[in-house]
Amino acid sequence: MTNVLILGANGQLARNTTRVFLRDTDAKLRLYLRRASRLSNPDPKRVTIVEGDVLDRKALEAAMNGQDVAYANLSGAMKQQAEHIVAAMHSTGLKRLIFVSSMGIYGEVPGERYRSVLDLYRDSAAVIEASDLDSTILRPGWFTHDDELSCQITQRGEPFKGHDVSLNSLSDLIAKLALTPGMESRRSLGVSRG
Ligand SMILES: NC(=O)c1ccc[n+]([C@@H]2O[C@H](COP(=O)([O-])OP(=O)(O)OC[C@H]3O[C@@H](n4cnc5c(N)ncnc54)[C@H](OP(=O)(O)O)[C@@H]3O)[C@@H](O)[C@H]2O)c1
Repeated sequence: MTNVLILGANGQLARNTTRVFLRDTDAKLRLYLRRASRLSNPDPKRVTIVEGDVLDRKALEAAMNGQDVAYANLSGAMKQQAEHIVAAMHSTGLKRLIFVSSMGIYGEVPGERYRSVLDLYRDSAAVIEASDLDSTILRPGWFTHDDELSCQITQRGEPFKGHDVSLNSLSDLIAKLALTPGMESRRSLGVSRG
């Protein structure tokens, strides 16, 4: 049984991925979010809900105890958040991190110039890539809400292909990454509709 900590658990993709974890796997989930009263527990036998801010190191480290995988689904001060996550993972011994970023952080989208709105995503990815964690960074295209499961993966250094991807495809990929030891470890993956 894998214990998965979801950081920023009230995010759109995190909520979809929680549903997919519960439907398709036997993982136990710890949902970490600010203002926890916004979420109701979908399965109290497998899910615990913890109120906390990723920038609160003490609360973050406490939430990491006993976990096998952290999946970060964040926004905002992402570089600082990444620094806190890496430091907390070092001090708690948690190694596996799945971190959601965005397409475009390396200027890898053909025909599109790098935009400064991506700085937070680029800088947070750099913090994680500089660490020795067993990390996978995801660089998804625009989210869509259809049922299609279709993932085209490009590695760092390759041009991004396509421009959108369904939430369901991303959630399916995140669940597989969380439950498959070594899968795409120390990689940064462009993810789009195949
Ligand atoms: N939408 C797209 O098409 C698209 C495409 C590519 C990449 N992305 C990126 O993919 C990521 C996930 O997307 P999403 O739609 O799930 O984002 P989202 O709905 O905005 O969720 C992000 C979550 O991060 C939480 N958060 C921010 N700072 C936090 C902190 N200090 N401590 C704890 N939680 C914190 C927010 O919590 P609160 O609710 O408490 O504010 C929010 O629930 C985002 O970075 C997004 O920009 C999106």
